Amino acid sequence: MSRLTVFLIALGGLVAISALTLFLTLPGGQANYPERASGTPLIGGPFELVAHDGQTVTDETFRGNFTLIYFGFTYCPDVCPTELQVMSGALDLLGEDAEKVRPLLITVDPERDTADIMAQYVANFHPRLMGLTGTPEQISTAASAYRVYYEKVEDPESNAAYTMDHSSVVYLMGPDGNFIAHFGPGTGPEKMAERIQAAINAN
Ligand code: NI
Repeated sequence: MSRLTVFLIALGGLVAISALTLFLTLPGGQANYPERASGTPLIGGPFELVAHDGQTVTDETFRGNFTLIYFGFTYCPDVCPTELQVMSGALDLLGEDAEKVRPLLITVDPERDTADIMAQYVANFHPRLMGLTGTPEQISTAASAYRVYYEKVEDPESNAAYTMDHSSVVYLMGPDGNFIAHFGPGTGPEKMAERIQAAINAN
């Protein structure tokens, strides 16, 4: 290896490191760090949907209340009903403080989940549970804001011919609409209630 080659390799390395440093320093270079400056994850954002009573609602509608948000669908055989029962159980454990929390089920299957179907379905779980549907575009916007994955998959076993794959996470959002906590599958109602109560007390 000649001296010139060594020099060029060293120079190339310096340029690469400088470019990387510059990239990470620039505002747009922080794409790999999905957090706001305050350290809260980028979960949540504007949406417009249709409530199970037919009224149009937006994220602003729920300001002033904590929201407990779950994305699912009414034809879901087991995962969604289980999570909705956990949410309902947590609300019951909160007693009167449950009035400060609005649980929301946002469908990922707007094709089948009309407002009427949502109304019938949420009644099986908790009197405070509100079902939200919308156009496929409205649902897609809301799901993107919450980083929720969903996909239609063919299901010959089902008489509806398809089912929905979807991520199963419950989000707790604050009265200002900001993200507070998320609960993965397997979280029990006691633990969920405990975390919500802590957020209410801290508010
Ligand atoms: Ni489900």
